[in-house]
Amino acid sequence: MCGIVGYIGKRNALPILINGLKRLEYRGYDSSGIAVLQPPDIWMRKRQGKISQLELEIEAENPAGTTGIGHTRWATHGAPTRENAHPHFSCGNKIAIVHNGIIENYSMLKDELMAEGHLFISQTDTEVLAHLIEYYYTGDLAAAVRTALNRVEGTFGILAVAAEEPDCIVAARRGSPLLIGIGDDETFMASDGSALVEHTRKVIYMEDDEMAVLGAENVTIRTLQDAHVHRPAEELPFRTSDIRKGGYPHFMLKEIFEQPDTMVDSMRGRLLIEEATAKLGGLEGFWDAIRGSSRLIITACGTSWHAALIGEYLIENFAKIPVEVEYASEFRYRDPIISSKDTILAISQSGETADTLAAVREAKRKGALALGLCNVVGSTIARETDAGVYLHAGPEIGVASTKAFTSQVIVLTLIALALGRMKQLSAEEGARIVNALGSLPDLTRKVLANVDVVKALAKKMAVHNHALYLGRGFNYPVALEGALKMKEISYIHAEGYPAAEMKHGPIALIDRKMPVVLVAVRDPVYEKVLSNIEEVKAREGWVIAVVSEGDTMVKHLADEIIEVPAITQCLTPLLTVIPLQLLAYYTAVEKGCNVDQPRNLAKSVTVE
Ligand code: M6R
Repeated sequence: MCGIVGYIGKRNALPILINGLKRLEYRGYDSSGIAVLQPPDIWMRKRQGKISQLELEIEAENPAGTTGIGHTRWATHGAPTRENAHPHFSCGNKIAIVHNGIIENYSMLKDELMAEGHLFISQTDTEVLAHLIEYYYTGDLAAAVRTALNRVEGTFGILAVAAEEPDCIVAARRGSPLLIGIGDDETFMASDGSALVEHTRKVIYMEDDEMAVLGAENVTIRTLQDAHVHRPAEELPFRTSDIRKGGYPHFMLKEIFEQPDTMVDSMRGRLLIEEATAKLGGLEGFWDAIRGSSRLIITACGTSWHAALIGEYLIENFAKIPVEVEYASEFRYRDPIISSKDTILAISQSGETADTLAAVREAKRKGALALGLCNVVGSTIARETDAGVYLHAGPEIGVASTKAFTSQVIVLTLIALALGRMKQLSAEEGARIVNALGSLPDLTRKVLANVDVVKALAKKMAVHNHALYLGRGFNYPVALEGALKMKEISYIHAEGYPAAEMKHGPIALIDRKMPVVLVAVRDPVYEKVLSNIEEVKAREGWVIAVVSEGDTMVKHLADEIIEVPAITQCLTPLLTVIPLQLLAYYTAVEKGCNVDQPRNLAKSVTVE
């Protein structure tokens, strides 16, 4: 949600900032802006729309300047207009800031500053911060930022510059990620490693309530209370090739096709074939506490919540530990009953989702053991949980989550398997699951090879305005996920339901114009799903069924079928979800939608 970049060094800052913003555009893309120091002034351009539009606007100018900051926005306070775009300036245009997060007490601060004569030109909360820093500024930017931030309530990742101090950028964070990239005689800043990796893999992750004063050759970090911080640099866990499209037209398609490899990466070194179990280094030392828990609460949002539902089935099945799945956004506000006997498992691709983070904090406050399952290394949820497991799926740039989902389900399977083997799961059962996991990447390749069938179907789907997705058991969350993918990127109104629930309401919607996507693989509920298909056909619905290879029964009932190879029941979601990802993708492409940057969405939702 919003992206921040900064540069200080010997090179011209502008192209570095523009390129960095392009790398972060997936985090927010309704407006953008750049400020470059040109003492005694600060040069600035901003505009509504995509970075490419900003780039076009400034192409002819190419301002000289080796210190600058930039921002790409996902609007929270104020419409996505030029005025509301960052950077924001103080009255005298001598201080500029870019900000991610929300200043909760901005209204009170704004009244106070207006009474002091400050003039505001935007509707944003961020502009207040620029004026507040100006209010305290007496020639020392770091001191003014510290005093200002100590008056602020809310979350921030900020970069600030002052016209009078061209040799420094001040950075600060609370609840919004900020990384410092260390180069040779140059320093980079970004809210996300993907904007840094082309320049350096040596990074320092800032922590909450820290402030950094950054020069071309020096980095000084102190807390907002002015205590010294020593933190060595770490290596970014990915490379430049991971953030390029690699010949695909969209990141989403690349990420769908990467899944056979990302599945392997999520399992790498984690399967113990001899012992028919899984080993997860991040949970070593915590297994006794987890299996001794009275219950496991899995909390997440969006796609990660769908993975959590599958996790519930897996863990209850293999380990017989009671599991509850909660929307993080609801969990945090409903005063949940939690005790030190509970374990909470937060699932988040980005590791920055505000609701999920708040749920973790709430559970920790009440004494629960908190575990995290994140993709982004060093993310806030990964750092704030007591222990956890990384997905190792590599950077996910497409706003619609795909490879992170399958890696989440794999890691949940490994957790369930390890817990199960510690409890009641037999070695024989364990070995069956380990073998099935081993066969997954090849089977996934087989599903992907069937892409043309899905492409043809997408052409027909694209003319519809609504769709219903149905599944049962392990594939009920897949129906939810298929519908979410479809609505996110194609804007077709799609709803996911447990198939048997259809007759309790949604059946009223079915007529010959209603596409109904059913997951109908051979599993213990197969016969029941056949009846659900009959019910749809009796009302002339258009049935697209995802079926097991060689199926003949559904073939006679459904209008269209997509085959997936057979695999043990609990792993079927990992194969059935893939055609649904592809169906959403090709439908959106057919409709001419911007697949990687769907309207109104942002990759990481760091606000409530
Ligand atoms: O980063 P997280 O996994 O915490 O994100 C949760 C949701 O915001 C995310 O899954 C969202 O639903 C995606 N756009 C789904 O494609």
